[in-house]
Amino acid sequence: MLRRVLLGVSRSPQIKNAVSSLPVSSGIVARFVAGETAPEAVLATEKLVSNGLNVTLDHLGEDTTDLATASATADAYVELLKQLAAAGLTQHAEVSVKLSAVGQALPGDGEKIALENARTICLAARNAGTTVTLDMEDHTTTDSTLGILHELRKDFPETGAVLQAYLRRTEADCVDLAYAGSRVRLCKGAYKEPESVAFQNKQAVDKAYVRAMKVLMNGDGYPMIASHDPRLIAIAGSLAARANRSRDSFEYQMLYGIRPEEQLRLAREGNTVRVYIPYGADWYGYLVRRLAERPANLQFFARSLISK
Ligand code: FDA
Repeated sequence: MLRRVLLGVSRSPQIKNAVSSLPVSSGIVARFVAGETAPEAVLATEKLVSNGLNVTLDHLGEDTTDLATASATADAYVELLKQLAAAGLTQHAEVSVKLSAVGQALPGDGEKIALENARTICLAARNAGTTVTLDMEDHTTTDSTLGILHELRKDFPETGAVLQAYLRRTEADCVDLAYAGSRVRLCKGAYKEPESVAFQNKQAVDKAYVRAMKVLMNGDGYPMIASHDPRLIAIAGSLAARANRSRDSFEYQMLYGIRPEEQLRLAREGNTVRVYIPYGADWYGYLVRRLAERPANLQFFARSLISK
């Protein structure tokens, strides 16, 4: 309930202005965001990789409303990939891209623009020796995002997809995407969605997550289990063992700053663990989703605002 209220209230321009004026170095922002620049993101990557973890980097931004910003975002990814390659990190670091940040929501040719920008990023990733995963946003974009994924995979079959367990359609999407070579990140879903398309309570979402995970683990693709939920992480391990999967045929993923000890524990056990690192100046939408997931985070957040 609190999550839905927060996600709704966060659309107010006054609240956005007040929160966005926090420096990125302030406690609550720095916990979840690795910095504003590519060198800061590369530094965070080096630290995690030296501890046996892998990463996927998100240049923050979403709902881009002009062509210039969409192109600038694609350029930022190309530059980041160059810096990751120069630092020798691309064996362990890939990038995550929100299509709305590269033009998907632009009127008219938005989808075409997003596809072309995504192609540019995929090519830069391939040249750097790594891959791209397309983040999934609210349900009004699911068909468009899967359509663009399908087009991209013709030239870049290594492109990863994201599916959200809270959507009623997701089990069927998992069946479609569980083919050889298909990398699929499964997450619970972070947006405020209507009951007509999404399960609303935690128990129903968790059950849907397990159903989707069964399809992916028993399929031929490469499941990427993106959750911090201890119960789901344990079930993922059992399902993988039951499906005779080797430890390198699936991976666990978690967000930067959330359950870091668990990230290391899973890696020490021999699992592939990937940490999602967001960086950039446009961190508001990302931060609000993290706050909405956990009421306890609001206390830290309130303290950051007071000590501003
Ligand atoms: P849940 O929210 O039930 O949390 C389980 C436990 O994890 C909590 O009890 C707490 O201990 C810890 N925890 C979770 N969130 C926390 C937080 N914010 N602060 C502190 N502790 C927290 N969503 C989406 O819609 N599209 C996408 O593309 C992605 N991409 C993505 C990539 C990766 C790598 C991850 C891990 C997640 C995403 N998500 C996402 C977000 C996802 O949908 C979901 O909102 C969060 O992962 C929280 O859900 P959990 O599965 O962790 O369970």
